[in-house]
This record gives sequence, structure tokens and C-alpha cells, in this order.
Amino acid sequence: MQFSSYGDKYTGDSGIVRLMDDLGRTMQAHPDMLMLGGGAPGRIDKVEQVFQQHLQKIAGDRQVLHELLGSYQEPKGSEPIRSLLAAKLSADNGWDITAEHIALTNGGQSAFGILANMLCGRMPDRSHRKLLFPICPEYLGYADISVMPDTFISQIPSVEICDEYWFKYHIDFDNLCLDDNIGALCVSRPTNPSGNVITDTEIRKLDGLAAARGIPLILDAAYGHPFPGIVYNDATAYWSDNVILMLSMSKLGMPGTRSGILVAKPEIIEAFSRANTILNLASSNLGPLMLQSLMDNGDLELVCRNHIRPWYERRRDILVAALVEHLGDVPFHIHKAEGAFFLWLWFPALPVTDMLLYQKLKEAGVLVIPGNTAFIGLQEDWDHSHQCLRLSYGLEESKLVSAAAIIGRTVKQLLKQGVRVT
Ligand SMILES: Cc1ncc(COP(=O)(O)O)c(C=O)c1O
Repeated sequence: MQFSSYGDKYTGDSGIVRLMDDLGRTMQAHPDMLMLGGGAPGRIDKVEQVFQQHLQKIAGDRQVLHELLGSYQEPKGSEPIRSLLAAKLSADNGWDITAEHIALTNGGQSAFGILANMLCGRMPDRSHRKLLFPICPEYLGYADISVMPDTFISQIPSVEICDEYWFKYHIDFDNLCLDDNIGALCVSRPTNPSGNVITDTEIRKLDGLAAARGIPLILDAAYGHPFPGIVYNDATAYWSDNVILMLSMSKLGMPGTRSGILVAKPEIIEAFSRANTILNLASSNLGPLMLQSLMDNGDLELVCRNHIRPWYERRRDILVAALVEHLGDVPFHIHKAEGAFFLWLWFPALPVTDMLLYQKLKEAGVLVIPGNTAFIGLQEDWDHSHQCLRLSYGLEESKLVSAAAIIGRTVKQLLKQGVRVT
């Protein structure tokens, strides 16, 4: 079958589709594999109970049930829910926003796709505007979303080696190339895959630079503030008139709702919701109704603060301790795990690429994400991009410990063999 250029772009060979296929097929063939390669939220009993109560309440009220199943939301999403959200976000964070600053979306992925293609790619004057990730590695789901090829570029970060085994990426402001070709900036905060939380100072500076050039900063807070708040340090929520803040219901524990929220100036919200209506007709009702119910009785804060964040924090600590024990004197670093639910491991002396390490770990019973997939739009060769792995820690504690033992054993064997294979 012959496809259009658009069809070719989205159906052609893509590293991420190949990797996801491989992960899926491997899990199906070997369900007992230790799956540290996923991005799904952990299953937290208490949180699931709270969601169940809210869903029952929604289903038990015929009018609300109709709003859930029997209606299309208006283009920007339900006005009462957007007003409620605007009032809450303003009160909690001191932001000056109204319902006109908010659009309800079908999740972060679809919202990012619309925004990236709306702001970057072929421009009316035939120029090609790019979207710059000012720090990489970044979320691998962004990689193939632009209709026009070569629309994403990224910047090598500066690398701070911290005490013990920790390291941290920072935006390399001195080399940040913000020229006329850039149509938007985007960062995830906390960052998938590194667990980095770009500091308050960095995010303010980045926003200032973007605003000075008249381009928006897309701030993807899928894991962060204001919710679900999977942030372990004192970094705070950030928004400004120049920021397009992307929130999602997924990492709160509801990826099945396919729901998210955008907070941006009304002009952008209006443009986004027109495009979203053309592409999706309307957004899902389930996420917004669940969010409304959770906000109404204060359960939103409660589950985030008392259950979600501590649950992941505990698993983070367990996996770090197990890795440190099992890697022993192997040269390795872990990115400061400041948020989200991933550990980002760096093996500077690895004699093989991350892809080969991924294969070896798969043979040994552990699935991870090879790090090279996250260096989206990087135009230079950087050895570091083949020396990292992402591990998800949102699963049973005993599995984390077993996985760490296998990772330790496998990396030690590879280092002992010492052959550089790519
Ligand atoms: C940083 C980041 N942004 C966005 C998404 C997409 O989330 P959603 O389920 O809302 O489409 C993910 C999913 O893993 C993510 O990690």
C-alpha cells in the first residue's frame, strides 16, 4: 500500500516503535521477566481504593453519569471544571488564571503532538522552525511526533559529578543556541528519563530567555507539581504567561482515562482547542470528572502527599541501595533521583553500547530502557548517550532487589570480558 508523506512519517521505521514492540513481545513470551522498562504508574492499593469510591459516586448519580458517558465536552473542556481548576491553581500557587487559561486534553502525549506541530515545522514563509529541548536526555515519546522530519533538536547538558555515586544534568546556558529558527522550547520536569528536576532558578532563567525571543516554553509536568507531585526535593510549581504547562492524569494513577490539562495564556488555549476539536472532536470526560470529584473533597492533595509520593520514594531508596550493593566497585553513577519514578544509570566504562547491555539484561531476565532512545534530536555524537539505562521503580520491592542483582552480575561480566563491542 502506498502512503502519503504523512503516512510514511507515522508508519515508517521508528526506533521507539521497535523498542516498544520488543518490550511487549518479550513480556508476552516471558511474563515472569522483571519489567523495569515500563512507564506505567505503580499500583498503589490505597490510591486505587480512593479512585474506586469516586468512580462509584460518579456512576451513582444519573446526571453525572450522563456527563461521563453521554455528552461531548465543549472545545476547551467542561467550563465548570476549568473554572474549579483555575480557582484552585490560582489559590494554591498564586497564579492569576481563569477558565480561559485552561484546556482539558486527551492526555499529555496528544497535547504535545498538537502543540509541537502547531508551533514548529514548516512556517507560512517556508522557513523550518525547530523545537529545542534545552537539555537531553528527554522523554522518548516526543521523538517521532512532528509531522515534518528533523524538527526537534536538543542540547548537550553540563554534567555535575556530585558526592558518592550521584550526578546531575544542568542546562548549559552558555551554549544554548536560541536563534530565529527556534519556535518553542520544551522540558519535562521532573524529567523522564533522568529523574532530574530542573531547578527553580534554571526554569525561571529558561522562561525569561524564551519570553525575550517571543517563543513559548512547554513545561511538561506529567510527574510533577501541582499534581501528582512526585518530587522529592523542594522545587516548586512554575507557570508564567509565556509557559504552556502540560499536566496529566496518568502518573496520578489513571492513564486509562487518557486525560490531561493545559495551562497557558488564552490565545494559546483558544488555538489549541480549535486544533484539538478538528483532530479529536472532544476530550475524554472521565479524567476531568474524576479530578473534579477528587478536588471537591480534598482527596487530590491527600493521595498525592500521603500515598503517591511516599510510595515511590520508598521504592527509589530500595532500588538505589540494592544497586549500590550489587554493583560494588563497578564504575557507575546514578542521576540524582529528584522526581518521577525512574533511575538513570550511567556506566562510563561500559565496554559495550547500551543497546547491547539491554539485550544481555533481557537474556538474563530484566527489561530496561536503553538510554540512547532518549537523546532526541541530538546532532552531535556523544559517548555518554550510549552509556546509560533507565530503570522504572514503580513495582514490587522484591522485584527491584532481584533486578539490581542481575544488573550487577551482568555489568560485572561485561567489564570482565572487557571487549569493546558496539
Ligand atoms: C514526560 C511525559 N510526558 C507525557 C507523557 C504522556 O502522558 P499521557 O499518558 O498523559 O499521554 C509521559 C508518559 O509516559 C511522560 O513520561
